[in-house]
Amino acid sequence: MILICPHCKKRHDVDEKRIPANVKMARCKYCEQRFPIRPSEKAVEQAGEKVPEAKDGPRRISISLSKGGVGKTTTAVNLSMGLSIAGFKVLLVDTDTQGQVGFMLGVTLRAGLLELVTRELAAEDVLVQARERLWVLAGGKSLAGLKRLIDRKDFGGELTLTEVLAPLESRFDYIIVDTSPGWDPLIVNVLFYVNEVLTPVSLETMTLQGLVEFLKNLSIIQKYNKDISLKYVLPTFMDKRVKKSDSIMKKLEELYGEIICEPIRYNVRLSEAPAYGKSIYEFAPGSKGAKDYRRLVRRVAGDDELLR
Ligand SMILES: Nc1ncnc2c1ncn2[C@@H]1O[C@H](COP(=O)(O)OP(=O)(O)OP(=O)(O)O)[C@@H](O)[C@H]1O
Ligand SMILES: [Mg+2]
Repeated sequence: MILICPHCKKRHDVDEKRIPANVKMARCKYCEQRFPIRPSEKAVEQAGEKVPEAKDGPRRISISLSKGGVGKTTTAVNLSMGLSIAGFKVLLVDTDTQGQVGFMLGVTLRAGLLELVTRELAAEDVLVQARERLWVLAGGKSLAGLKRLIDRKDFGGELTLTEVLAPLESRFDYIIVDTSPGWDPLIVNVLFYVNEVLTPVSLETMTLQGLVEFLKNLSIIQKYNKDISLKYVLPTFMDKRVKKSDSIMKKLEELYGEIICEPIRYNVRLSEAPAYGKSIYEFAPGSKGAKDYRRLVRRVAGDDELLR
C-alpha cells in the first residue's frame, strides 16, 4: 500500500499486513509529521492504486456554524439519537464549553476530551453510554485547558482531536461533533478531523451572512483537509407564518441547491425536551420536531425506509 504524507507529499511503500489493526496514525520518515494512515481516495488515486470500494471507518460529521442559537446542539443530539435508534452505533462529541449535550440527554459528563488528550484517563473512562448504541464524549473538566494545550503545541496542534479520536473509530458507524459558536482552535481541530459538515441555518434570524463567512473560513481549512466538504445545509426554525422564513428558504435553494435539506420547522416541543433530559423522539414522538428530525436521519443515512 502506498501512503502519501499530506505535509511533504513524499510516498511511503508500506506492507499493510504489518500495521496493527488499532494503529491509525503514521509518522512520515522524511518530515516527521504524523498523519492518518487511512489515505484519502485522492491520494490513493494519485498513487495509481484502485480506489477502495468499501468505506472503512465511521462517517465523521460536524454540526457547525459560527453564529449562535441556530439549532446546532438540538440537531447534533437528535440526529445522533435518531441514527442510534435506526440501528447505527454513534459517538456524539461535545466540543462546546456550554456542556449542553449531556444536559439534553440527561446524563452527567465529568471527564472527556481534555483527559483523553493528556492521557490522564482511557477511552473507557470518558465515554458515557447515554442510550442503546449512543455514546457521548464531553469536553471534560476544562475545554479552555484543552484550547491552551492545543495552542502550546509547536506544530501539529490542529491534529490533536484527530489523534485522540482516530483510535476510537472502529467502534462506531457515525461520529457526530457538536461545535460551539464562534471560531477558535478547537473548531479548527474539529474541521481537521471530520470529512463532512452539516450547517444549520436559522430561517428566523438572518444568518445568510453568517453562512457566507463560515464558508470562507471552511475553504481555508479545505486547503489542508482535502477530504472535508459542506455536505448539508439544514434550514431550521422554519415558520410558514413568517414571510421572512420563505424568502430566506428560496435564497438558500438558489445558492446551495442540492445540499439543502428539508427544513426543521419551528416547534416548541424541541425547546421543551432538553429540560427533561430527553430527545425529541422520547419526549414528543408525534411532534413536528420528531417528524422533521426523522426525515433528516433518512437523508443523512441515505435510506428512505429508516424510522418509518
Ligand atoms: N426547531 C426549533 N423550534 C423551536 N425551538 C428550537 C428549535 N431548534 C432549537 N430550538 C431551541 O432554540 C435554542 C437554541 O438551540 P440550540 O442550543 O440547539 O442552538 P445552538 O446553535 O447549539 O446554540 P449555540 O450556538 O449557543 O451553541 C434552544 O433553546 C433550543 O431548544
Ligand atoms: Mg450549541
